[in-house]
Amino acid sequence: MRLSGRTAIVTGAASGIGRAIALRFAREGASVVVSDIREEPIWSGEEAVPTVTAIQQEGGTAVYQQTDVSKAQDIDALIARTVDEFGRLDILVNNAGVVFSSSVLDTSEEDWDKVMDVNLRGQFLSCKRAIQQMIAQDPIGEVRGRIVNIASQQGFIGPPNFFAYAVSKGGMIQMTRQLAVDYAQHGILINGVAPGRIITGTHPGEIDMSDPVLAYSRSRTPYPRLGRPEDVAGAVLFLSSDDCTFVSGHNLPVDGGWLAY
Ligand SMILES: NC(=O)c1ccc[n+]([C@@H]2O[C@H](COP(=O)([O-])OP(=O)(O)OC[C@H]3O[C@@H](n4cnc5c(N)ncnc54)[C@H](O)[C@@H]3O)[C@@H](O)[C@H]2O)c1
Repeated sequence: MRLSGRTAIVTGAASGIGRAIALRFAREGASVVVSDIREEPIWSGEEAVPTVTAIQQEGGTAVYQQTDVSKAQDIDALIARTVDEFGRLDILVNNAGVVFSSSVLDTSEEDWDKVMDVNLRGQFLSCKRAIQQMIAQDPIGEVRGRIVNIASQQGFIGPPNFFAYAVSKGGMIQMTRQLAVDYAQHGILINGVAPGRIITGTHPGEIDMSDPVLAYSRSRTPYPRLGRPEDVAGAVLFLSSDDCTFVSGHNLPVDGGWLAY
């Protein structure tokens, strides 16, 4: 129960990595605000109950707040609901994101705006309002709050055909560093996680490794499998827990070693 008594927001928590983080946080004792544009997971199947339902079925505490992270009024409502329900905001995980694969020549202005609005503007708005709340609340020990931004290994490199996405993720990594420097003095620890290829939206047994994109990812990953959402959740838990006391401005790859060569 490493997050007992803590309140956490996880954006994009209906599905995939965000859902795994929300479930892990609840198992560790946090009250979780599940934030997403949709309540139902993107994938379907027997286990496809909303994240809040899955948490409550395990005896955890969670509420759902519909949120489009690119809209300031939605972020305001998200922070207000969190404080109304649970009294404070200890942890913000900025996970909501959209993937877009295209070269610059095939990227329209609308495509660019959509990727930047969700990935980069969304993180900006969420961090801004969360930091305002965290500064205003009493610290627990030395720490007023922790923020973890889910970027991507693609923010560190120039991956082929991922123009707008890689630029947005590079911006998110840099935002983590900059905010960490400005707000460390207030007792706010701000870090990022940069996942490699994580399988989401399907069951591990149903992964089609003949898919050329997955086969390429597998060939680039030294660890003998692709990533799972739970791999990312473990790293986020460390950065959100009391074990993370003097770590700030760091972007931690969770990529099975992809970026190491
Ligand atoms: N899966 C990977 O291989 C991988 C690798 C690196 C980074 N990431 C990053 O991890 C994060 C989660 O990815 P995933 O694979 O779990 O994706 P996913 O598509 O399974 O889940 C993303 C969730 O974000 C929500 N979302 C989308 N737009 C939103 C918005 N405007 N406001 C609020 N919620 C919104 C979706 O509804 C969805 O529930 C993303 O930021 C992604 O860029 C994923």
